[in-house]
Amino acid sequence: MTAKYLPTFAMITTLSLTAGWSLAQDSDIHGAQFNAAGKVLQPVGYRKWIFVGAPLTPNALNGGEAPFPEFHNVYVEPTAFAAFEATGTWPEGTQIAKELTMVQTDVSTDEETGANAQVSGVGYFQGEFVGLELLIKDNQRFPQEPGGWAFFSFGHGGEPYAETASAFPTDSCNACHADNAETDFVFTQFYPVLRAMMEKD
Ligand code: HEC
Repeated sequence: MTAKYLPTFAMITTLSLTAGWSLAQDSDIHGAQFNAAGKVLQPVGYRKWIFVGAPLTPNALNGGEAPFPEFHNVYVEPTAFAAFEATGTWPEGTQIAKELTMVQTDVSTDEETGANAQVSGVGYFQGEFVGLELLIKDNQRFPQEPGGWAFFSFGHGGEPYAETASAFPTDSCNACHADNAETDFVFTQFYPVLRAMMEKD
């Protein structure tokens, strides 16, 4: 992975120093693919993007049904990650995937907490993949969305996920992110990898 993205990063750095950041954003950010009907295609290879954190909302602690089940594995597309590291802002074309897994259950599962006993201790362990969401920043394609951020789901029914997805209405997703997320609609406050990067600068 490093070898593959090194040239891109070098190019971004050079361009941002010489020609200004906006030029670099347009040419170097690996944006999402859309079909003729304007639906976004399921991102390819997102499990190899940069993993930034895994918030956990166990169903057992959320009245049996958390709005987003249960582990939330969050991955940032690498060219957007590099730009964010360099500038502290999310570039146009940013893609962030959130893949959901259930917590594992077995004979030791506690009904009240949903926790398991494993050799490392009592707690939560990731089970099967169950859903996929995508966040895209694209002011040109989504000028009506606050911040240019559009929100998608490829389903919560497990694999295989839907091949394509349409953007949710603003109130379904964008509004909560607008009000509560720390860095331009993204919940960086919950991702240790991004927090550490931001503190460094
Ligand atoms: C009530 C508030 C709320 C709503 C509504 C909401 N989200 Fe989020 N979203 C969060 C929080 C909090 C996080 C980070 C912590 C977590 O995952 O539990 C998050 C994280 C995300 C992430 C990972 C990137 C990031 O911004 O941190 C994606 C992708 C995402 N949400 C998609 C969606 C989609 C798609 C919808 C609409 C179907 C939606 N969200 C609706 C609160 C919300």
